Amino acid sequence: MKGMHHDPARTDVDASEFWENRYRTGRGEDGRMWSGRVNATVEAQVAGLTPGSALELGCGEGADALWLAEHGWRVTAVDLSAAALEVAALHATRAGLAERVTWQQADLTTWRPTQEYDLVTSAFLHSPFEFPREAILRRAVSAVAPGGRLLVVGHAASPPGSGHDHDADAPPLPTPDEVLSSLELGDDWGVESNTTVERSVTWNGHDVTLLDAVVRVRRPMR
Ligand SMILES: C[S@@+](CC[C@H](N)C(=O)[O-])C[C@H]1O[C@@H](n2cnc3c(N)ncnc32)[C@H](O)[C@@H]1O
Repeated sequence: MKGMHHDPARTDVDASEFWENRYRTGRGEDGRMWSGRVNATVEAQVAGLTPGSALELGCGEGADALWLAEHGWRVTAVDLSAAALEVAALHATRAGLAERVTWQQADLTTWRPTQEYDLVTSAFLHSPFEFPREAILRRAVSAVAPGGRLLVVGHAASPPGSGHDHDADAPPLPTPDEVLSSLELGDDWGVESNTTVERSVTWNGHDVTLLDAVVRVRRPMR
């Protein structure tokens, strides 16, 4: 994985151009920017759930969406970057999973879900721009079906070399408690995870331990 410079005040380029350029120029020899493997924290959170319909917000190159599809979920996966979605769709076809995933190019700052899902998930929905992440996640809450779940996985500490750790102006990363309270859930929702977990990865060529913030909540049955 390559680092991400975090500068919320940047105005030199718009978000769409930034991500498009990042995915097109960041591709490694296998055609991908990211590893192509499901995120270990996402896998651990979802592995025990009964498959159904799933919505992924900010799916990037689709590794998590493909893992979900492979494990029986019918997935709608949304991202801003057409370049990332091209890679995702290519790998879906290669894996024989194209029928199980709908890739949707959209800007989540204005996008509204139009149906409900058994699982709504977002992993590392961070951006180096002004980004209404909390509002997006609150809309995600509205897309959870009765008895369904919302999973939010994010960085709880800056990945080494991301630039974020040296940027005093960057907003602090939200703790799981802060993510949970920003969702503004009713009292009847169940909190299934509200924690930080360590994850060992190779990051910018070094073996490092990352800290993920994990929130998983469940909407009550009707
Ligand atoms: C740090 S990446 C994480 C990608 C993927 N979830 C993963 O874990 O590898 C953040 C993703 O959010 C997407 N993104 C950023 N701003 C967005 C927006 N306004 N609407 C939709 N997607 C956006 C980017 O294109 C990028 O794929």
